[in-house]
Amino acid sequence: MSILNKINKELQELLKSIGYEVDNINLLPSKRKDLGDFQINEAMQLAKKYGKSPRQIAEEIVEKLKKDDKFTNINIAGPGFINLTLTNEYLVDELNSIIGNVENNIDKPTPKKVIIDYGGANVAKALHVGHLRSANLGEGLKRLARLMGYTVLGDAHLGDYGRPLGLVELEIKKLYPNLLYFNEDYTGSYDEVDLPITNSDLEKIYPIASSKAKIDEKYLEEARIITSKIQNKEKGYYDLWKKIIEISKKDIKQVYDSINVNYDLWLGESDSVEYFPELKEIFEKKNLLIDSDGAKIVELAEDSDKAPMPPLLFVKSNSSLSYETTDLATILQRRKKFNPDEIWYCVDARQSLHFEQVFRAARKAELVDKNTKLEFIGFGTMNGQDGKPFKTRDGGVMTLKSLIDLVNEETYKKIVIDTQSEEEKKSIAHKVAIACLKYSDSLPYRETDYVFEVDKFADMEGKTGAYILYSTIRMRSLLNKSEGIKKEKLHNLFGSVEKEIALTLLNLPTVLNKSLDTKSLNEITDYLFKLTSIYNKFYSENKVLIEENVEKRESWLILTQLVYETNMLLINTLGIEVPEKM
Ligand code: ARG
Repeated sequence: MSILNKINKELQELLKSIGYEVDNINLLPSKRKDLGDFQINEAMQLAKKYGKSPRQIAEEIVEKLKKDDKFTNINIAGPGFINLTLTNEYLVDELNSIIGNVENNIDKPTPKKVIIDYGGANVAKALHVGHLRSANLGEGLKRLARLMGYTVLGDAHLGDYGRPLGLVELEIKKLYPNLLYFNEDYTGSYDEVDLPITNSDLEKIYPIASSKAKIDEKYLEEARIITSKIQNKEKGYYDLWKKIIEISKKDIKQVYDSINVNYDLWLGESDSVEYFPELKEIFEKKNLLIDSDGAKIVELAEDSDKAPMPPLLFVKSNSSLSYETTDLATILQRRKKFNPDEIWYCVDARQSLHFEQVFRAARKAELVDKNTKLEFIGFGTMNGQDGKPFKTRDGGVMTLKSLIDLVNEETYKKIVIDTQSEEEKKSIAHKVAIACLKYSDSLPYRETDYVFEVDKFADMEGKTGAYILYSTIRMRSLLNKSEGIKKEKLHNLFGSVEKEIALTLLNLPTVLNKSLDTKSLNEITDYLFKLTSIYNKFYSENKVLIEENVEKRESWLILTQLVYETNMLLINTLGIEVPEKM
């Protein structure tokens, strides 16, 4: 249990001892620091409940608080707001109890089992900036949820089903008509059959095929036929599909690795298809499927709808499955294989209608238990200076790879590292670049569109990943240099900046809980900046290692250690790696 929660529990008991029952009580950081570090506002609500004046209740509480020696400077403001301060002795004792294990300063909620669907990469297509946002948010939430005691499975949910793959195969067929994959007389195995195509070829092929299909009806029809051949697992076409997935997946994995994103499950839309017959049966039994021009749809509109809710396309008229249906089949699959309490979808906010439809249909068909939560965690767009989705310098679509190249380049130019090795400099620059990219991507509340500032994101000062990393590495190096010096406990908080560090550390659980509630990482990036800045203020005002007062020096080192450990915990939660030096 966190320090703050422990105090809250004690306050609850204290109120109980004078006859007041509250569900919970919150020691809030005060907005008027001159009146006290914290405030308690519960007297207001108790006044209504017990039919007394808030002032009278506040006075009774204060009477009791004065007998508790962890509090000092207790006073009542306005109609009954209680201000108070925690004594330095108390803060010191409590902080000593979390040295070496700052995870004890967290309040873990009731454990849950969660599947997080994030990343959403599409096979044979280049990852783009939107995929970064999903991967970054999903990875951070996965780590946060684990830190908070949840059991979490991260699933890549690859887009490996549907027409794009048919298009890619068609274009490959046009380029290499003699490939064994298209030879109907070939009856052997395809295991050893080579494909003269690399991943970067694949990424070029799809846009070509897609634009051809837009203007050429015949081409599109051919692609449709191939798509259904793949979906019917026809020899040759199906084998080629598997090969394409293999090539593409390897590349996708590499890109995700380079940004520290890793999955427990690498399932795709196509893996849900085997659940389709059962899914269809469930929908049929509940009479949810309606014929509509050869297709089957599910009506979803409700009387309370403020905006029109289109029906869900369950099976298309050419009998292929829609994106919605693969998501429904995936829900069934997830329930049967993992039975999670919650499924979170980290997907572009522009897909909110899609998920509203899928969730409504899933509820109607009772695909999951009533208590299973399906949550859409939408995010906004990363824009360029012009307020439009971030593009390459020459105005092209920004792939994730080109974005990574760009941030590597910018960071390489900026960082100054004491090394002779070009390789080391590049590797450090890459870590810093990814840290800066991820940190800046996690700064705004997730739903907010934001402008990615190429010339600022890797600044050494300000709210950047570089600032956080640099400061944290400096703390580590200070601690390393202090080897041999006694570092057992905090003796006192000697100044107001130290006190501020202590109070900020106390606030950690509130930040983490809020981040988990809102499913947004901005609380964490903000807090990291705040804690780091206050620590840096302290650092610039004091010469820790050469301080002559032994108790002061020891306390300062311990404070450094507490901030360092807290920073590391949060940096890791954001999926950011800390280089050895920078
Ligand atoms: N592949 C999709 C896209 O790029 C995102 C998938 C999101 N997840 C899902 N379960 N639908 O748009």
